[in-house]
Amino acid sequence: MSNLSFARHRRLRTTEHLRDMVRETQLHTEDLIFPIFVLEEEGQKNEVPSMPGVYQVSLDYLLEEVNEVVSLGIRSIILFGVPKTKDDVGSEAYHDEGVVQKATRIVKEAHSELVVVADTCLCQYTSHGHCGVIENNYVNNDQTLPLLVDTAISQAKAGADIIAPSNMMDGFVAAIRKGLDEAGFEHIPIMSYAVKYASAFYGPFRDAAHSTPQFGDRKTYQMDPANRIEAKREAHSDVEEGADFLIVKPALSYLDIMRELKNDYNQPIVAYNVSGEYSLIKAASKNGWVDEKEIVLEKMTSMKRAGADLIITYFAKDIAKWINE
Ligand code: PBG
Repeated sequence: MSNLSFARHRRLRTTEHLRDMVRETQLHTEDLIFPIFVLEEEGQKNEVPSMPGVYQVSLDYLLEEVNEVVSLGIRSIILFGVPKTKDDVGSEAYHDEGVVQKATRIVKEAHSELVVVADTCLCQYTSHGHCGVIENNYVNNDQTLPLLVDTAISQAKAGADIIAPSNMMDGFVAAIRKGLDEAGFEHIPIMSYAVKYASAFYGPFRDAAHSTPQFGDRKTYQMDPANRIEAKREAHSDVEEGADFLIVKPALSYLDIMRELKNDYNQPIVAYNVSGEYSLIKAASKNGWVDEKEIVLEKMTSMKRAGADLIITYFAKDIAKWINE
């Protein structure tokens, strides 16, 4: 063998300590954002059937959940409201006494340092389940924008630290930035769902948030999974309009897009590890087909390697426990 010349890559893999020293990607509890579904009805803590281990909690159970999150060292949560009543124009989304507004006040009063992200969308609040105002069976972009602005402002008033618009209307970052600035919230960042695909991976979330569209689908506003260059256009306009963070959603089938945005922009990139991605792993690990901890940590590491700075994930509490072990 002495006349063969080749690289000895295995030299750096010989011991655990050495592997630790050359590891390029690290996962920290600071990277995690934990989603919480908040119910308006009292006395509820319901496990979501399609998402074992994930609960919808009512306002009176919210702090129990948040205290646990904080005690694990997680720095941030994202709130999704499940309102008692819905109407055509999603009024409860921008009501100062809406469920997310109330939840935000409860959380911030107990944990002022916890970074509360408010999901800014209408689909949980509209009777038809679409993310905007319907006109002739089509979501009207420009009529929806002012409602999103009102939602963002009322969330900021309630104490939300970050506004995360997720409904994929054109111009939502520009409209919300202007609205927040005029209302005196120029210091509140926008975490834009810049690239959000019309994905089958959202199924379990729609169970949890009661946000299934009552007719049609979301393909006239969410993106076609086949498109990469369009993702660059979407991200480009959100950056131009003032987005402070860029979300790629879902995460695992879109790691190429994440890398692309990381290379092209200087904003922090956020991976949304969505409900279907969670449920698939849960189901397989319940059956003993995969090792849950190993597979979750591998997937999280892949998202970071692909360029994600932050990860929104239903696994956040488990990951924090594993990291702290
Ligand atoms: C809606 C919204 C969706 C998710 C977050 N906000 C899904 C949708 O478009 O129906 C999905 C999150 C998940 O699947 O975990 N604006």
